[in-house]
Amino acid sequence: MSARIARVGVVGLGTMGAGIAEVFSRAGLDVVGVERDDAALAAGRGHVDASTGRAVRRGKLTADEQAALVGRIEFTTDLAALGAADLVVEAVPERLEIKRDLFGRLDGVVSADTILATNTSSLSVTAISVAVSRPERVVGLHFFNPAPVQELIEVVRTVVTAPEVIAAVTELARRLGKTPVECGDRAGFVTNALLFGYLNRAAAMFESGHASREDIDAAITAGLGYPMGPLALLDLIGLDTAYEILETMYRQGRNRLHTPAPILGQLVTLGFLGRKTGRGFYDYSDIDGVGASSAVVTPEDSRVHRVAFLDPSPGPLAEALAKAGHDVVRGTAGQDADLVVAPGDPETFARIAADAAPGAVLAATGAGPVVASAAASGRPADVVGLHLAGPAATVAEVVRTVVSSPSAVTTVAEVAASAGLTAVVCADRAGFVVDALLVPYLNDAVAMLETGYASAADVDTAMRLGCRLPAGPFELLDALGPAAALATLERLQAEVREPGLAPSPLLTQLATAGLRFADL
Ligand code: 3HC
Repeated sequence: MSARIARVGVVGLGTMGAGIAEVFSRAGLDVVGVERDDAALAAGRGHVDASTGRAVRRGKLTADEQAALVGRIEFTTDLAALGAADLVVEAVPERLEIKRDLFGRLDGVVSADTILATNTSSLSVTAISVAVSRPERVVGLHFFNPAPVQELIEVVRTVVTAPEVIAAVTELARRLGKTPVECGDRAGFVTNALLFGYLNRAAAMFESGHASREDIDAAITAGLGYPMGPLALLDLIGLDTAYEILETMYRQGRNRLHTPAPILGQLVTLGFLGRKTGRGFYDYSDIDGVGASSAVVTPEDSRVHRVAFLDPSPGPLAEALAKAGHDVVRGTAGQDADLVVAPGDPETFARIAADAAPGAVLAATGAGPVVASAAASGRPADVVGLHLAGPAATVAEVVRTVVSSPSAVTTVAEVAASAGLTAVVCADRAGFVVDALLVPYLNDAVAMLETGYASAADVDTAMRLGCRLPAGPFELLDALGPAAALATLERLQAEVREPGLAPSPLLTQLATAGLRFADL
């Protein structure tokens, strides 16, 4: 086996395969790109031209460098051209029989020393490796979309992958400027195993009418600083790919939370596969990318003048509203206020509702349920929830109960937007939007740690670099506090009684002991 990989093959030049070929060529390796027919080959070359052309337009590559980069890739439909490759990476469709068939054919073409890698997202690398005569030279090399941008490569070893194969691809990953994270052969590996539960919950949240697609995405981008919201990310990944990954994860773990949300199957049936077909959760026909936050209202819409905070020291929201020109009064139910903000509990709302002006809107802060305050108020149509979410409290979740009046919801959203917050409207469900999507994912990460599959540091690195997130799950858990995460999970669990949302024992223990993951 050659110690240093110099000549590589990529089979399958769809979005991922073309991106992988580009990454290799950028690092100066000789690349053979193989597709099944001339049309697919032309499309693959088109992906590389488009991606490198974009880099030229952005001043990241010169035209000469682009020509040299593309020139290092030999485009062919002949698998036999891979005969001299040190490494072949397959990126063909995510179906076991297709990958096995390809590996079987590669076995007859490549040399005995060639490393055979699969870019599978979730299929068993072991199951693919049995199609070749020497499974010890088979490894998973899992790149992330877009491959030229994301820094992570998951290096997946089976129980028989030879250590020198791992060493050679790890060295190569570093040469490509990527960060390798080594892991064992389980459905979804580290990153997809944690990412797809979250994505599936977001799809189900949208499907149930809990919040709009724009508000779900805006809550995550503005609240957590993620580069994309979950529905825009599903469109980037491809809904067919996402569906297959969830199916594989479900088959392996039998976790109901991995059952693809029905809307995913419906969109796939319609051929709405995401960006690649011009339509998925969003329509891409006349816009250049989405996922941009779309706050429900803009600041200048606010019609509220006087805001009363029951709390004498209500914190940054009151300050931001005062700065935005509202007349803010503190420590009172504000008989002449247009909006009264008070901690959401039935006793408080029974009291303030009697004092507040007849046309005033009453906003209940806290984790909910808002409907309990609404019921106690005796004027439930006027009551709306207002919850600041995210580590920097940048998102205002405006919570409509089943009886909130639309104008009360709009009023609270307008006021929140006037304070510079991203206002998103959602139903009165445990965790609202941000916590309902975030905290089960954090719990899944803790469960993964407990199984010994990956370390907290590897999980954080994988999530940060695979998806360009500002923080990994353990970093977020420590920022949030295990006790707060546990409290949210218990609320979610009480509402939906879903076994997959049961707090992992380690999280409960840390919360009980008042410890953080950094203390372990
Ligand atoms: N191909 C190549 N480069 C691309 C690209 C593409 N399709 N899209 C964006 N880029 C580059 C741009 O050229 C730019 O590079 P530069 O900084 O060197 O100029 C950089 O990425 C940023 O692009 P933009 O400024 O146009 O746009 P954004 O800042 O909005 O970034 C994004 C776009 C890179 C897609 C970013 O939103 C992102 O990282 N999103 C998260 C994507 C993610 O989570 N991927 C992992 C999905 S899971 C997966 O792939 C596993 C699989 O098994 C399913």
